[in-house]
Amino acid sequence: MAEERTRVGIIGAGPAGLLLSHLLHRAGVESVVLEARTRDHVEHRQRAGVVEHGVARILRAAGAGARMDRAGAVHHGIELRFDGRSHRVDFAGLCGRDVVLYAQTEIVKDLIAHRLADGGDVRFAAAATAIEGIEGERPRIRYGTAAGEQVLACDFVVACDGFHGIGRPSIPAERVRHFEKSYPFGWLGILADVPPSATELIYARHERGFALHSQRGPRVSRLYLQVGNDDHVGNWPDDRIWAELAARFALRDGGWELATGPITDKAVTPMRSFVCEPMRHGRLLLAGDAAHIVPPTGAKGLNLAMHDAALLAEALASWHATGDHTLVDGYSDTALRRVWRAEHFSSWMTGLLHRDPNGSAFDRRVQSAHLEFIASSRSASAQLAENYTGLPYV
Ligand code: APR
Ligand code: PHB
Repeated sequence: MAEERTRVGIIGAGPAGLLLSHLLHRAGVESVVLEARTRDHVEHRQRAGVVEHGVARILRAAGAGARMDRAGAVHHGIELRFDGRSHRVDFAGLCGRDVVLYAQTEIVKDLIAHRLADGGDVRFAAAATAIEGIEGERPRIRYGTAAGEQVLACDFVVACDGFHGIGRPSIPAERVRHFEKSYPFGWLGILADVPPSATELIYARHERGFALHSQRGPRVSRLYLQVGNDDHVGNWPDDRIWAELAARFALRDGGWELATGPITDKAVTPMRSFVCEPMRHGRLLLAGDAAHIVPPTGAKGLNLAMHDAALLAEALASWHATGDHTLVDGYSDTALRRVWRAEHFSSWMTGLLHRDPNGSAFDRRVQSAHLEFIASSRSASAQLAENYTGLPYV
């Protein structure tokens, strides 16, 4: 079997793998991206859509932010709803930053278009089956295509292959430690052909459970409902979804109505917090969901994946240019500092807004008191604003 060679072998064409390949190209480092699914599949799966201030800057600096700046919407705050009342968290006033609402799936489309226009090597329907030799200097990826099994030899392998990929399990179990937290609920997410009922995102905490109102441009709404973690879409006919959303967003004195329309996508997502330490073993590096998962309440999954990619691009470019391994050696520690900040914020935001089915009436009163504190204290809401828009360190 002929063995191909590249500098960096990247598994997975999600935001982490694609941004890494794009940034490496700009730094003059060759890479190959192997993606198990088709281009059509990765360009159409529904994911989150909040881009932190600093991540928007990374995309712009990499020449990949033009469509985001045209089609995305800059958001200067979010609304919290609880106990039938509304409180706005003013990001601009509290921390001077903002976020861009632009769907992850659009970022993926933009990055694929850039890679292909630049002559990049992104192979779809190419599923990695094994990663070999990571403790040596010439790791190899085995992968399957319609033409049969192929081998790609590299200087480094970067697994950007999501939580269920082969990257993380390729590290010997005794060399890594996993940290995990599960939640007794999930999210039912829908996409609907109806103009958003609010200009900013609404995070609602209600006795019946959490709800989130988001948007995909001026004509499409994206909404979520907290559901049981063994629930499934079959239990949720459209009428039930709209009635439940309306109940959870309702304001005590009325004055707000949720517009409804045809639902075009419906899925239940489990909630999990997970971190793998370290994010590297030998010549195998992990990035994005392959190394860490956050519950979606803080909108951090996409942003962490993009930060990992930016750090790795810098580290691998420095190694390529000078042979200096310092940044590659520091990658895991540097990335994990931000990861743990986001893990804290995401589980904190989740606890603040969800109904814990095992919680007591006492817990629910404490939760109300906490929300009340955020609504009445500048320093408490500033902490939320700083974390949500993305802390600038690293
Ligand atoms: N071979 C090739 N590709 C693979 C393999 C494999 N063996 N296993 C998984 N993949 C691909 C998946 O098909 C997917 O396209 O890896 C890609 C991983 O992409 P993402 O799941 O988007 O992960 P990442 O780039 O880390 O982005 C994280 O995605 O899940 C959301 O909330 C998460 O927003 C966050 C973002
Ligand atoms: C989304 O728009 O899909 C979205 C927004 C904010 C979140 C999660 C998802 O916290």
